[in-house]
Amino acid sequence: MTELGIRAPAPHPAPEAAEHPQPAARFRPKEEIALEAVNLSLWYGKKRALTNVSLAIPKNRVTALIGPSGCGKSTLLRCFNRMNDLIPGVRIEGTVRYHGVDIYAKNVDPVEVRRRIGMVFQKPNPFPKSIYENVAFGARVNGYRGNLDELVERCLRRAALWDEVKDDLKKSGLALSGGQQQRLCIARALANDPDVILMDEPCSALDPIATLKIEDLMRELAEQYTIVIVTHNMQQAARVSDYTAFLLTDERTPGQLIEYAPTQELFTHPKDRRTEDYIRGRFG
Ligand SMILES: Nc1ncnc2c1ncn2[C@@H]1O[C@H](COP(=O)(O)OP(=O)(O)OP(=O)(O)O)[C@@H](O)[C@H]1O
Ligand SMILES: [Mg+2]
Repeated sequence: MTELGIRAPAPHPAPEAAEHPQPAARFRPKEEIALEAVNLSLWYGKKRALTNVSLAIPKNRVTALIGPSGCGKSTLLRCFNRMNDLIPGVRIEGTVRYHGVDIYAKNVDPVEVRRRIGMVFQKPNPFPKSIYENVAFGARVNGYRGNLDELVERCLRRAALWDEVKDDLKKSGLALSGGQQQRLCIARALANDPDVILMDEPCSALDPIATLKIEDLMRELAEQYTIVIVTHNMQQAARVSDYTAFLLTDERTPGQLIEYAPTQELFTHPKDRRTEDYIRGRFG
C-alpha cells in the first residue's frame, strides 16, 4: 500500500525511447523517482497545451521547468497535483505517477493528492488572517490532534520566517512584505505535511534579496522535500536546481519537452540547438 492508500501497479517499463520524438528529452535520473509524467498530453477545450511529455522527477531534489512564456510550464506543474481538474474543459491523456501510483486513477482522492503534493503560487496569497492562523488553518480544519503552537513554530522555522515574526504572530499575514508573505505561504504549505512542493515562479514578484532568501530556503527544503519550480530566471534555475527541463511550443507541437538533464549539463552542454538558443537568450 502507498501513502495514497491504494496499491501501486506493477512497475511499468520506462517509455520506449522510440516513442519519444525528442532525443535530448529521454534522460531519466538514476535516482529514486517521486513523480513521473508518462506520455502526458493536455487540452484546454480543443486547444492542445502539452504533447507527450515524459518527465521523471527525482525525490529530494530541486527540478526546474524552464521555457518561453506560453510553452506549458504552469500547465505541466498543475498536472502534478491535479490542479487542472479545477479548470472546466480540461482533458488529459497519459499518466502521472506519484511513487508509482497513477494519481488520476478513479479511486484516488484529488484532495489527498493535493495534500501530499502542495503548491506555492507566483503571487504570495496569504489568507486575510493572522500569521498564526495562516499556518494553523489547514491543520485546524482537518482536525489536527497535535499541538498547534508547535506546528506553527516548526513550519515558520522551516520556512525561515520564525525569527522575523515570532513576536507578531497575531499580526495579519497581509501586513508582511512580499518576500515574507511568500515564506508564509511556504510555511502554510508545509503545515499540510506534504512530500512534494510545486512552486510556480515563486520569486517573480520579489526583490533580489527576498529572491535569494527563497532560493536558500529551497535548497534547505530539498533535504526533506521534493521540489519542482517553474522559473523564467536562468540564473535562478542554474543556482537552485539539480535538474532542468526545457519545454517549448512551436507551430506544430504545443508544450513539448525538448531537453532534460542535470542542470549543470543542460546549461553548459545543451544537446538540442533550441535549448542552447533559449538559454543564450536568443528567443523567449
Ligand atoms: N485556463 C486556461 N484555459 C485555456 N487555455 C489556457 C489556460 N491556461 C493556460 N492556457 C494556454 O495553455 C498554453 C500554456 O499555458 P501555460 O500557462 O501553461 O504556459 P507557461 O509556460 O506557464 O507560460 P508563462 O511563462 O507565461 O507563465 C498557453 O497557450 C495558454 O494560453
Ligand atoms: Mg506560467
